[in-house]
Amino acid sequence: MNPFKYGSIVLERDFCGREDLLKQIAGHIKAAQNIVVLGERRIGKSSLVYEAVGRLKGTGLLYVDILGIKSVDALCKRILRAIVTIEKKASWLTRMLKTLSYLRPAITIDPVTSMPVISFDASVELTVNSIQEVLDLLESIGRKRRFVVVFDEFQDIQKIGDADESIALLRSKIQFHKLIPYVFVGSIRHRMDELFISPDSAFFKSAIPITVGPLPYEEFSRFLTRKFEKGRRKVCDETLKLVFEIANDITGDIQQLCEALWDVTSERETVAPANLQAALELIFTREQKSYETYIGLLTDLQFKCLTALAREGGKNVYSMKLLKMIGPHSSASVNRAITRMIDINILFKSGKEVRFVNPFFKAWLLPRGR
Ligand SMILES: Nc1ncnc2c1ncn2[C@@H]1O[C@H](COP(=O)(O)OP(=O)(O)OP(=O)(O)O)[C@@H](O)[C@H]1O
Ligand SMILES: [Mg+2]
Repeated sequence: MNPFKYGSIVLERDFCGREDLLKQIAGHIKAAQNIVVLGERRIGKSSLVYEAVGRLKGTGLLYVDILGIKSVDALCKRILRAIVTIEKKASWLTRMLKTLSYLRPAITIDPVTSMPVISFDASVELTVNSIQEVLDLLESIGRKRRFVVVFDEFQDIQKIGDADESIALLRSKIQFHKLIPYVFVGSIRHRMDELFISPDSAFFKSAIPITVGPLPYEEFSRFLTRKFEKGRRKVCDETLKLVFEIANDITGDIQQLCEALWDVTSERETVAPANLQAALELIFTREQKSYETYIGLLTDLQFKCLTALAREGGKNVYSMKLLKMIGPHSSASVNRAITRMIDINILFKSGKEVRFVNPFFKAWLLPRGR
């Protein structure tokens, strides 16, 4: 079986390093201090938080994924569903059902996980005021039980209807929950930091920021080498250095490329730089449809900018060399083209640099833009 995992949360034996951050997070949780975990996409934010809570025996995890939530109704119902997963006592569930009777809740047991699942009458829609009620419910459980509330992909809170009012309400309630540690997780690229770090934001200074960066090469490469050895493959340092470079040091992308390298090699083989092309081709085959969809969305100028960025890198998007590659266009139209590709999530800004969201798309484009 392929020992590399990507695209989902990794825990325990599949979790590498980050001892310092784990310790810091554990300390904050024990002190019921709220924290905000920030980092690039696929760098390992969710895994870090899950692992930290998992190591704290006796502390429950109330995990609420905000990804894609569009309304206050959906937000409240997601929190209520999460409550049901940590509170299994029948007497307590009955009480909760009574409190929420106007939502006509029904509890069923999921046949796969054997966990209780709550559903609500879809015709009853929760509004901003229900946020208070749901958070009061959280607080009352917090008095009896130790748990951490994790809001993952918290940046999406900005996209719900009544966002400002909801954010302000959340903040004002949460600050009085002295016994409950809240962990807000989100990606820097989606303006998550603005919610907590900008002085006029509702959550300003309400949580201690923790930044998750790349895993150090020494530590992560040792971990990956051991995984290759499990599959009876040797991997040379040179190959791993190239893997980190292609994946831009992003944890999840490194694992994805290792997964493909493992797939295109056999037992007792040494995984060498020469295998990289086949591994990339495997990823391209799997992802080609989405690359083509992306390209279908682009104008001629946007495509030219994209291929020029793939070749030249995006440290200086207005360099003469880059502009020459793109052709006779004003820097304003180049700027517009790049902004558009940031909006549709093909590119992102990291400081002043413009980078590809998917490093494999960049590698795929390289030979195609000539
Ligand atoms: N500590 C770790 N050890 C080994 N691999 C890791 C670690 N953290 C993350 N990964 C790799 O990165 C992938 C993404 O991890 P995770 O989902 O935790 O990141 P994330 O930052 O929450 O991503 P997203 O921005 O998509 O929510 C994992 O599937 C795994 O391949
Ligand atoms: Mg995540």
